Amino acid sequence: MKIRTLKEVYFSPTKTTQQIVDSICKGIDADFAMSIDITSPMEEITKIECSTNEILVIGVPVYSGRVPQTAVDRLRSLKGENTPAVLVAVYGNAKVDDALIELFDIVEIAGFIPIAAATFIGEHSFSTDEQPIAINRPDTDDLLAAVDFGRQIQEKTAALCSDKNITPISVPGNRPYKVATPLSLGVPDVDSDLCTDCKVCSTVCPTGAIDRENNNSNDEECISCYACIKSCSEGARFQNDPVMTAVKDKLHSNFKTRKEPEFIL
Ligand SMILES: Cc1cc2nc3c(=O)[nH]c(=O)nc-3n(C[C@H](O)[C@H](O)[C@H](O)COP(=O)(O)O)c2cc1C
Repeated sequence: MKIRTLKEVYFSPTKTTQQIVDSICKGIDADFAMSIDITSPMEEITKIECSTNEILVIGVPVYSGRVPQTAVDRLRSLKGENTPAVLVAVYGNAKVDDALIELFDIVEIAGFIPIAAATFIGEHSFSTDEQPIAINRPDTDDLLAAVDFGRQIQEKTAALCSDKNITPISVPGNRPYKVATPLSLGVPDVDSDLCTDCKVCSTVCPTGAIDRENNNSNDEECISCYACIKSCSEGARFQNDPVMTAVKDKLHSNFKTRKEPEFIL
């Protein structure tokens, strides 16, 4: 089957998922490619529609062993016509739990046929210089593995004759999915002495939770993705809650051993 159009869709507050999905797409030879970033707040959710001889590569980070709820909500706009799909879950070297199977279900219900899946490792959103967790992932090896995975997808789709003979893959995970533990850790703070009021934090916030007037985060809307902290060049945004420090310590000590990307084809 010749792939005419490749659509990449990703939710990626701290950009590791985006890097991996981009690299996978480099390995797939399509006539046209289109990138759809669902990270920013969307005033109007436009339909993401795909037809039969297109391919969808969809990437999400793992949040508490699940697909982030914000991504779940935005992915309701997906609509396929037996379109082949590649599922990508990016996690911070801890656990994937049920995120991949949840992504499988979202995509299948929307009319796609999952033909390949992968888990990749990205620097943990909570990683710091003092408590590194999968720091600097994805690295060069990860990105090369992603391009190679894209090539394998290309070979697999070339061997498919039509949508009628496509058998969906199966992915690890449990139904019902694990219950995602809410992180009630408070929102990131701002050090007004360091803040230059550049507005980068409010621009990168995926839920529009940061007030552009005073740069404060709204408790209700913040999803603790750490995009504001990681994007602040002045180090003006921080989260020093003692519970959060304990979480980071635990992640840093328990998940030191390097994990590698895994593929299902
Ligand atoms: C709220 C939250 C929950 C997370 N839960 C997990 C988890 O359950 N397992 C894991 O390995 N990593 C977890 N992570 C780490 C992210 O999956 C990881 O850093 C990923 O690379 C972030 O993707 P992004 O750069 O595209 O935002 C979590 C991160 C956040 C912000």
